[in-house]
Amino acid sequence: MKAFIIGSGTLGSTTAFLLAEHGLYDDVVLFDPYEPLAVNHAMDLTQAFCLTTDPTVRAGSLADMAGSDLVVMSAGLRSKAATPDFVGTAIEMAPLIESIANGLKTAPNAIVITMTNPVDALSYLLCRLSGLPERQFLGFTWNDSLRFRWAIAKHFGVKPEEVSAYMVGEHGRSKLAVWSDVSIRGEKHTFTPEERDAVAAVQNGFWDEFMKVSNLRTAGWTTAYGCLQQVRYVLGVNEGWCPCSVIDGAHSAGRPARLGPNGLVEAKELHLAADEQALYDASVAKIREMITQIAQGAGWTI
Ligand code: 2OP
Repeated sequence: MKAFIIGSGTLGSTTAFLLAEHGLYDDVVLFDPYEPLAVNHAMDLTQAFCLTTDPTVRAGSLADMAGSDLVVMSAGLRSKAATPDFVGTAIEMAPLIESIANGLKTAPNAIVITMTNPVDALSYLLCRLSGLPERQFLGFTWNDSLRFRWAIAKHFGVKPEEVSAYMVGEHGRSKLAVWSDVSIRGEKHTFTPEERDAVAAVQNGFWDEFMKVSNLRTAGWTTAYGCLQQVRYVLGVNEGWCPCSVIDGAHSAGRPARLGPNGLVEAKELHLAADEQALYDASVAKIREMITQIAQGAGWTI
């Protein structure tokens, strides 16, 4: 099986390492607009694996996307890393996005995981520009629910894997926590307002601190390891609900989903509380607005 990784920074190269090391793909291709970076990592990874199972890890061009089973979009603009100007970033990357969409036409069965922000809008636009089936576009939003589970666990003194919780909507500032559907050690939990505030403070406090020290870096390791988990859901290694951005009409937005080798199997019905529904609708409206702004800025007719 072939995985094509777009972007060879920390995120893309770590994703390539994990996919190869776990033996999930026997042909892992690294592409970067700055070719020496992809070549460097491919050579390094080839040495790393030379005594073990032999996945091929190689640098390639967009033409090597042909026939891929998985395409991971992790390219970003160094100048705009981890900044909120997602629309401007996407418009600046329009030529690359168009090339990727054209490349996807040569990989008609590829599962496409977009990790580049704005995840929801870019995943949707890549689907429309490439013409591949909607079910194959699974935008990466794992980190939001992971951090929510982590913050709940930290507040209540349990392990994150003992918490079932998720965030929905935009992988961005308008995302929302589904407080009404959280369980801890298998027991549904009803939050008091004070508990909600305390958990939100832990979750936001971590991110604020992280951004303060990150100096334009993003959360490469969290994201790459989350991408491995999402791929394991696609391949049936992991079972259950995987939070990701799935296409629903005129947008893509995050929600728990069942995944399989052909992509989306089932998107979880959201039974949101009234306040959550209002926030979700606003988040979807923001995603749709971003899609429109990017398409207009790039001159795309979607
Ligand atoms: C993250 O969730 C910034 O999208 C990136 O860490």
